[in-house]
Amino acid sequence: MIAIVLGTRPEIIKMSPIIRECEKQDIPYYLVHTGQHYSYEMDRVFFKELELPGAHYNLDVGSGSQAEQTGKILLGVERVLEKEPTDIVLVQGDTNTVMASALAAVKLHIPVGHVEAGLRSFDRAMPEEINRIVTDHISDYLFAPTKAAREYLLDEGIPDKTIHVTGNTIVDAVFQNLEIAQRKADALSRFGLNKGSYFLVTAHRAENVDDKYRLIGIFQALLAVRKEYDLPVIFPIHPRTQKMLLSFGISPEGIQTVPPVGFFEFLQLEANARLVLTDSGGIQEETCILGVPCVTLRENTERPETLEVGSNILAGTDADCIIKAVQAMLQPHATWSNPFGDGKAGEKIIEICT
Ligand code: UD1
Ligand code: UDP
Repeated sequence: MIAIVLGTRPEIIKMSPIIRECEKQDIPYYLVHTGQHYSYEMDRVFFKELELPGAHYNLDVGSGSQAEQTGKILLGVERVLEKEPTDIVLVQGDTNTVMASALAAVKLHIPVGHVEAGLRSFDRAMPEEINRIVTDHISDYLFAPTKAAREYLLDEGIPDKTIHVTGNTIVDAVFQNLEIAQRKADALSRFGLNKGSYFLVTAHRAENVDDKYRLIGIFQALLAVRKEYDLPVIFPIHPRTQKMLLSFGISPEGIQTVPPVGFFEFLQLEANARLVLTDSGGIQEETCILGVPCVTLRENTERPETLEVGSNILAGTDADCIIKAVQAMLQPHATWSNPFGDGKAGEKIIEICT
């Protein structure tokens, strides 16, 4: 019996190929949703679009401080695992949901499989970096997306026999949904955009958006990019960013801010953008898979493969650096190949677990 635990937007998307695989092979599993994300456009929309079964348990932990959220998940997952006979718990990524669920399981002596193991930004100020390190060191199965991730794990003394290089399930999710997205979604006409003639932006990292001056800097830079290229800039706003804009009294000028969109619309917006600016982890991967240039609004990345293949560049949040990075990425360049796998990560992970 596999317990699949998830709680946030990227976990729903990146766990979907594993859930599909369990359904396809009729493998017994149950789904635990921690409720870390709960707004319709951060949660339900993905279950609907990806045709996922409803969660068997919803812990409804909601928002809170790091400790509050982590503590509630720890308690909630422990209660479920005490009740349900479980052979392995699967978690994906680097959120509080992941770290707390892995900890609850391992303390009950239930093996943990960490999907997307071995990512490192080497920046311990990020809550996600702490979550990655803790989860990797208490997991029994480490599903590393790339050889580089495997090397990081080996460097930290994690036994080789526990590490499996499977590729990243985001490749499976993109391959499984891109064609449907291009056919079904209507984002370009809904937002009045033309193919290849707009910039797409997302930003939600706490270190960027919880700091008033960094957030103002990002919007100033976006306005400068819009003016330099005379192209629209569309920015589906994450709820954390929306909350901080309101609390700092910032009203973005000249940028098309819209509520978060579903996966189909987002894939369509990404695939047709001239360039994407983001501080998201998953979006650095997706742009690389889709062949769309990316500028990352951070000083570091736990996805170095994207820098190596040339799909992505680090720009931080300074306006001049961002403009230079956009110029560099818009130079004619060779295409790259996707380093994140062949789209069969979900299948490989389930094969190893069963
Ligand atoms: C979390 C993860 C981050 C991941 C991101 C994916 C941690 C530490 N952070 O960040 O790694 O990249 O999810 O998007 O686990 N809110 C809503 N509705 C929701 C969810 C959140 O309005 O459905 C608002 C609340 O005001 C909340 C804030 O967003 O306080 C932040 O939510 P939280 O889950 O704490 O962190 P994220 O920034 O979403
Ligand atoms: N995404 C989406 N709608 C949006 C923005 C993002 O469906 O409005 C998807 C995107 O395709 C990617 C995932 O959300 O698969 C990335 O999530 P996020 O940036 O919130 O988290 P991170 O990857 O940084 O942890």
